[in-house]
Amino acid sequence: MPRNRADPPHRVSLRRHDPSQPIDESPENDSSYRLAWITDPHFDHAKLDTWRRWADSLHEHRPSAIVLTGDLSEGDDVAYQLRCLAETFEIPIYFVLGNHDFYGKSIAQTRRDLIDLTREVDNLFYLTDTGIVIPRDGFAIVGEDGWGDATQGDYAGSVVSLNDFALIEDFVNAAPHDWQAMLQREGNEAAARLTQKLSRLADDVKHVLIATHVPPYREACWYEGKTTNDDWAPFFVCGAIGDALTEIAKSNPSRHFTVLCGHTHHDGDAEILPNLHVHTGYSRYGTIDIESIIRITEQGFQVPRSTGAKKATET
Ligand SMILES: [Fe+2]
Ligand SMILES: [Fe+2]
Repeated sequence: MPRNRADPPHRVSLRRHDPSQPIDESPENDSSYRLAWITDPHFDHAKLDTWRRWADSLHEHRPSAIVLTGDLSEGDDVAYQLRCLAETFEIPIYFVLGNHDFYGKSIAQTRRDLIDLTREVDNLFYLTDTGIVIPRDGFAIVGEDGWGDATQGDYAGSVVSLNDFALIEDFVNAAPHDWQAMLQREGNEAAARLTQKLSRLADDVKHVLIATHVPPYREACWYEGKTTNDDWAPFFVCGAIGDALTEIAKSNPSRHFTVLCGHTHHDGDAEILPNLHVHTGYSRYGTIDIESIIRITEQGFQVPRSTGAKKATET
């Protein structure tokens, strides 16, 4: 929501849902679980009317929960936007952060501030910080910010220069020749956190939804219907998470992994392995979309796409 008033929204006071326990399936709660997926909303670019229409539309879907895959806003406005969401939608809101969310601060300070917020607002869950969410028996949701980690493409030869290097304190305060190692470290730490979470899944979990910001594979890094080139890949693929997920999916063939990501603002679906699929979401500055209303069925997490997302096989 754009800032149109001086006071932040009131704190939501809800009975806190324990994310490690299945959500109540009693008839009065409607037994059909609907997870609204939003990516790269860049709320700071949207007019108030746009935000209200989007919120009304989202209400009509009666979501059980919301998952946001990063780039909510920038700087302190990220917390403001999350408070607005928490007040407007009295359901669990799961989120990870994108590179824009760190603008104006350091990476560590941004995470600290938002972890503090989730301790205060009952229905906000920062998936990078929190553990495993169990929306239904046999299903799990986990998340991790991820980072364009300079492991794919041609970092040294790339002419791409992201605002990240001018607006995130870690990079501003470092010498440019250190940036590649810093990006790789962010990717490795993200992969380690995610691996640790996935290693703790109970045996009965057969379907895992992974929310992250940066596509973990070149095959999932879409731009205008094609996948990334060597110039953009260093900043638009989190190769460390991709490597980790491939290994985990191969060693757990009876478990299916569904990845949601954004960052490229262009949508597509990619099958990396028979049990590992990646959905990349669409975004355009100034508009806010609902990328999908995800359902849980016997076949797993169903991610219908209204946008006719490209398939990896169409490249
Ligand atoms: Fe974005
Ligand atoms: Fe991004």
